[in-house]
Amino acid sequence: MENNIQIAIDLIVNSNNAIAFTGAGISVESGIPPFRGETGLWSKYDPNVLDLNNFHLNPIEAWKVIKEIFYDFFGEAKPNAAHFALAEMERQGLLKAVITQNIDNLHYEAGSNEVYEFHGNSRMLVCPYCSNKIKASEAVLTDIPLCDKCHAVLKPDFIFFGEGIPELAYRNSVEAAQKTDLVIIIGSTGEVTPASSIPQIAKQKGAKIIEINPEKTLFTDSVTDIFLQGKATEIMSQLLIGIKQKI
Ligand code: APR
Repeated sequence: MENNIQIAIDLIVNSNNAIAFTGAGISVESGIPPFRGETGLWSKYDPNVLDLNNFHLNPIEAWKVIKEIFYDFFGEAKPNAAHFALAEMERQGLLKAVITQNIDNLHYEAGSNEVYEFHGNSRMLVCPYCSNKIKASEAVLTDIPLCDKCHAVLKPDFIFFGEGIPELAYRNSVEAAQKTDLVIIIGSTGEVTPASSIPQIAKQKGAKIIEINPEKTLFTDSVTDIFLQGKATEIMSQLLIGIKQKI
């Protein structure tokens, strides 16, 4: 493992357009449960709560569960050492962008600037009809939040099953994947498309792939070159120490 850490550090320091691709696993040590796995949200809640048609048909029921999962629970989460390490790498000019599937806003809160949110962001609510947006923190979520312009039921500004990927995030992510020479995948099963195609696009263009995860994933035996088995905070902290010794 030590040898792999050193190889990864050399790849990062010698890369020109490195990007990170993150999933729910990078936020687990911030107290946000993953979606899949034994402790995953989908083992407790029905994923149907994030089905777009279900939301429009049963907004009251849907909002009750959405509030419990994404606002009561996520609300207090803070960035962890892995988020901060990626922000530091961006500041050192070693990371061009973070492409994240996460909606928890923790990359921005850790100081990353170039963040492409493939699945949107839970910090805003959006009107599906007139596109009016408000901060979730300004909404009274004990009631069903209504648009103050057209009085429709607001929805969280992250994508539901059945919704398309935000156009700008998708375009930026594909462009970054086509240009990069190194992808650092952190905490993703690789089970959700089209997000999981981003590391595959980079691989096809000749990029090297580093993967950080306590368990093997769909990426490990398909696109990953260097698999660093472990928790995001532990591995990213080791990488950052090694990077700082070399730059
Ligand atoms: N450090 C790194 N990775 C971890 C950690 C940790 N401390 N703990 C768990 N993981 C890994 C798990 O091994 C798993 O591979 O994080 C991954 C979490 O899996 P998912 O919850 O499925 O996360 P992800 O692959 O990002 O899911 C993608 O699914 O439901 C949708 O929109 C939702 O963005 C989400 C998408």
